[in-house]
Amino acid sequence: SLQACLFDLDGVIVDTAKYHYLAWRHMAQQLGFDLSETQNEQLKGISRMESLDIILRLGGVVLDQDTKEQLASEKNQHYLELCAQITPQEVLPGVLDFMNEVRRAGIKIGLGSASKNARLILQHLDMLPYFDTIVDGTLISRGKPDPQTFALGAADLRVPAAACVVFEDAVAGVEAARAAGMKAVGVGDPEVLAAADRVIPGFKDFSLHDLMTLFQK
Ligand code: G6P
Ligand code: MG
Repeated sequence: SLQACLFDLDGVIVDTAKYHYLAWRHMAQQLGFDLSETQNEQLKGISRMESLDIILRLGGVVLDQDTKEQLASEKNQHYLELCAQITPQEVLPGVLDFMNEVRRAGIKIGLGSASKNARLILQHLDMLPYFDTIVDGTLISRGKPDPQTFALGAADLRVPAAACVVFEDAVAGVEAARAAGMKAVGVGDPEVLAAADRVIPGFKDFSLHDLMTLFQK
């Protein structure tokens, strides 16, 4: 039965996925090519440096390590500027109601994000107190789709993988959850997230009871 809910951050709790996209797209355009929304889907859940490598490959651009690190740091500065104005009002609809319901039921809550900025964003949202564990990009050596992010979260909570459900907006994140032996709820487009056990458009009107049905099968 369900003992822990593990949440991705960007695109699940708050719509920072759009800021990551804006910042990467700006960088690509400076390098002379565009980054489409479809191409951006493969970047969701992927670490900063790996994302950069994918983008450069898409643009057919080869750069040395120093230049790549410079670009990644500029992208991050731009991203942080876009995030600077984030307030608790930007928590996506229904997320807090759902988390409060989960907590009341005695189910643990964890964060599993590839982002090194995750704690900062949660601070902007006033959401740090919701989490029993926070696994972010500073703690992991293998990013999604590797299961490490979620496996670490479950281990820290002392909950078996089979009793965890992961909420993810990224293809790589759904894959990571499945590889960890957890249930995966996709948040977003059912066609993009076809590998998930279930896909929801968001947390509005989504209840713990809805989630429990996943564990009754
Ligand atoms: C999340 C986002 C990715 C981002 C990654 C690293 O997984 O979905 O788009 O590249 O975090 O984020 P960071 O804030 O460390 O650059
Ligand atoms: Mg995400």
